Amino acid sequence: MNDANAPRRVEHQQTDKGYVPVYTTAVVEQPWLDYSADDHATWGTLYARQRELLAGRACDEFLQAQDAMGMDARAIPRFDQLNEVLGATTGWTLVGVEGLLPELDFFDHLANRRFPVTWWIRRPDQIDYIAEPDLFHDLFGHVPLLMNPLFADYMQAYGRGGVKAHGIGPEALQNLTRLYWYTVEFGLIRQADGLRIYGAGIVSSKGESLHSLESAAPNRIGFELERIMRTRYRIDTFQKTYFVIDSFEQLMRATEPDFTPIYARLATQDTIPAGEVREDDHVHQRGSGEGWATDGDV
Ligand code: PHE
Ligand code: FE
Repeated sequence: MNDANAPRRVEHQQTDKGYVPVYTTAVVEQPWLDYSADDHATWGTLYARQRELLAGRACDEFLQAQDAMGMDARAIPRFDQLNEVLGATTGWTLVGVEGLLPELDFFDHLANRRFPVTWWIRRPDQIDYIAEPDLFHDLFGHVPLLMNPLFADYMQAYGRGGVKAHGIGPEALQNLTRLYWYTVEFGLIRQADGLRIYGAGIVSSKGESLHSLESAAPNRIGFELERIMRTRYRIDTFQKTYFVIDSFEQLMRATEPDFTPIYARLATQDTIPAGEVREDDHVHQRGSGEGWATDGDV
């Protein structure tokens, strides 16, 4: 299971549409005893590096939760041990998976307060970047905030909203995915002492941790639900725009209403390019746009 040469990615199958990923939806036991010394060392290197970088950059809730869960640099955490703390705190459970899940399966897990975590960790030569989520991204990035009661509820509500959006159609789903992207993955939060990171895609990346807060290139714009749900995003470069919430309460309140009429309204409006700043935006910082690719928004 942990042969270094074994394929450790989502399998692909050749079809008339080219290679498509074969999703394994099954929940798998974390093969903790099979992790190699290299695997633990990769975790340790990434953990130590990000923790040092994130002091004063990640929001206090994230850093405190990570400590409270008992994660550290010594070894890859055991899901069953984390589950004891998490279960007692907010009632969430981590379940091991092979990789990305079909949308409806993913939503169903979240709606039931189960968070799917990829069980395998990247190879040592992938320390700085890996395109698909691995254990480090999922566990280090996503899991700590599940300890926060508000964020824990937000994730469950998102899962329920996902099931609903899935029933409405692909456009609704796209609107909802953008919200996930700009909050859960790439969100910034305004703390009393300045902007901090809470998005999992940022905290699990050294480059984006620095870029999101310190680069002059990206826009940093105040959270606005429908604006975000229209905004395209980047999957292969740093974000051109980050959206800033004032608090997790704000995020909860803004996303509480039924999205059904919102989806209907958004269906009549154009999407917004990833790097665009609009007249009615609450701009924390207008990006210089330096280094931006001209195309490639999804
Ligand atoms: N309120 C949303 C709906 O009715 C669900 C949701 C909650 C979506 C929280 C995202 C985050 O669809
Ligand atoms: Fe993620």
